[in-house]
Amino acid sequence: MSKNDKVALITGASKGIGLGIARSLLDDDYAVVITGRNAKTLAEAKAALNMDAKVLDIVSDVRSMQDCHDAIKQTIDRYGRLDVLIANAGVGHFAPIDELTEDQWNQTIDINLTGVFNSVQSAIPALKKSEGYIFTIASLAGTNFFPRGAAYNASKFGLVGFTQAVMLDLRNYGIKVSTLMPGSVSTYFNNHIPSEADAWKIQPEDLGQLVSDLLKIHPRTLPSKVEIRPSKPPKK
Ligand SMILES: NC(=O)c1ccc[n+]([C@@H]2O[C@H](COP(=O)([O-])OP(=O)(O)OC[C@H]3O[C@@H](n4cnc5c(N)ncnc54)[C@H](OP(=O)(O)O)[C@@H]3O)[C@@H](O)[C@H]2O)c1
Repeated sequence: MSKNDKVALITGASKGIGLGIARSLLDDDYAVVITGRNAKTLAEAKAALNMDAKVLDIVSDVRSMQDCHDAIKQTIDRYGRLDVLIANAGVGHFAPIDELTEDQWNQTIDINLTGVFNSVQSAIPALKKSEGYIFTIASLAGTNFFPRGAAYNASKFGLVGFTQAVMLDLRNYGIKVSTLMPGSVSTYFNNHIPSEADAWKIQPEDLGQLVSDLLKIHPRTLPSKVEIRPSKPPKK
């Protein structure tokens, strides 16, 4: 890696959207740090990316502030800088409120909301130095509510508000902050197995392309909230 190469850390990048974004940023010559809770899945993702020197895999649970700080430290130790944080790790539990368990509620809020707080706060010192960029991966569920969505809607509505406030806090340091709000994406989310039947959905690499394009926008301009939806959803 040359001294001027940029570095991105993507939480929850062992599969799905995070892995798609990692591919795009590698194509743009970034070094990428991928995190997740499972060492084996991360190692498989690293092997699939096939660019060993430019990929660092770190077992890190976004629910732990200590894990988030450790991931930033390992990133700086290895590559010397951090330019982009993609706070992507997230889960979905869907149940009517009278059936939603306390554990499902806590996991959803702890990962999708507090996990983003931990990821963002631990990255700020390094991003101040690089005048970097933070993306949070929210969802259209952060603006559209639906039955069985109490926990997920709460986490993503909260995340959209959090990200907009953080954007105002950090832009004076030269740090850009955007929240991406995708509709259906073909991933392993909520135990889904991607298949040909998902062809109509947004694909992880499409979000990778979006992140890559947003990173190239002139420094004076900031698309702070971006909704992304399948252009041709199946007819109901
Ligand atoms: N798929 C969709 O339709 C869709 C639409 C809108 C928004 N989103 C959002 O996109 C983000 C990524 O989801 P995805 O669709 O790519 O799902 P996915 O295929 O299930 O991938 C989720 C990733 O997050 C990791 N992860 C989960 N909990 C974590 C934790 N506590 N700490 C660190 N990593 C963790 C998972 O690895 P481990 O389980 O091994 O840790 C995995 O790498 C989520 O925030 C989701 O809400 C998804």
